[in-house]
Formats: sequence, structure tokens, C-alpha cells
Amino acid sequence: MPFTIAIDGPAASGKGTISRAISAHFGFRHLDTGLLYRAIGAMGGDPIAAARALVPQDLDRPDLRTAEAGQAASRVAVIPEVRAALVDFQRRFALEEPGAVLDGRDIGSVICPDARVKLYVIASDEVRAARRAAELGADPAQMLIELQERDRRDSERAAAPLRPAPDAVMLDTSALTIDQAVERAIAEVARARG
Ligand code: C5P
Repeated sequence: MPFTIAIDGPAASGKGTISRAISAHFGFRHLDTGLLYRAIGAMGGDPIAAARALVPQDLDRPDLRTAEAGQAASRVAVIPEVRAALVDFQRRFALEEPGAVLDGRDIGSVICPDARVKLYVIASDEVRAARRAAELGADPAQMLIELQERDRRDSERAAAPLRPAPDAVMLDTSALTIDQAVERAIAEVARARG
């Protein structure tokens, strides 16, 4: 069983940056599972059919990082059939050597419950909004509203709601630099590898 690292948390908590850094450090492959939902939301049409037909090339669309794509993603992500159609895609990715980092909302709780490391990355709403605003060149107040709406939808849905797995290690990045957050995550993985 390849070494799997599950990194979950709300939007703009820092999980993407941490996941990329960890995968580079340990030579693992990385899957940003938010892109799956973003791609399905961006396709329009029937989201269940889109989820069943998803291929890796769909994740390369250039318009998936926008705030609108994030909102569209969280609307299709509440549909249980969409989530069910994506389970195999994600588990297959985790099963290939030499090991993988998957980041999302339900990796440690649903997709890879046996992951060797589970991190749940959080940051205050204001810090997350400021980060996302800087990244997208947007207004922080508007980003705060957008993130809180998305968090609410992700947390309140019945299918795989945003929630830490019981055995996840919490990592609050509110007061940390990127380097400090990455250092702590790497230490956690190194400890689990023994
Ligand atoms: O992580 P990112 O912001 O790209 O995710 C976009 C949306 O996709 C989230 O707000 C959430 O609704 C959904 N998502 C999910 N499960 C995942 C990853 C993302 O429901 N594993």
C-alpha cells in the first residue's frame, strides 16, 4: 500500500501550498481534488453525467481557479451522485507508487480513511480572505463573504461534509508563514514515516 497523505480544510487555509511543498519534498504525486469539482461545475450541463465522464485532461482547463469556479464547484459538490462518481478516480490516484498527497475536504474522512498522515489545515476567516484576495487581485471584504458562503455550503451538506477526520492532526496556519506551515507539515510526515 503506497504512502498516502490526506490534507483537508476549508478554502484558502493553506492546504494547497502545503500539499505541493510536501509532494515535492518527499517525491510523491499530488492531486488537488478541488479541481475535480471545479471542472464539473465549469462544464455546465448535467453534473452527474460530467462526473461519470471525467478524464484527467479536464483538470487542465485554464478557468478553474476563479472565485466563480469555486462557487460552482461547491454547488455540484453537494450532489451525492457526483461525489460517488469521483471516488474511484481519487482512490486510483492514491494507489499508485511511490505515494501520494491528496488535498480536499473529505480525503481523510471518506476517500482515504487509511491515509498514513491526515492533516486538517485551518486559518481564521480574515486571514483566509486576505490570502485569497491577494492571490486573485480581489477585494478582501468580498472574498470574506464568498469564502464564508462556500464554507457554509461545504459544512452543512449531507454528503461528506467538511469536517476533520477523528484522527486528523490540526494545523492552524493563521499566524504562520508559508515556510513555517510547510516545516510543521513535513515534520508530521517525517514522524509518521519513522
Ligand atoms: O479546494 P477548492 O477550493 O478548489 O474546492 C472547491 C470546492 O470543491 C469546495 O468548496 C468544495 O465544495 C468542493 N470540494 C469537495 N470535496 C473535495 C474537494 C473540493 O467537496 N475533496
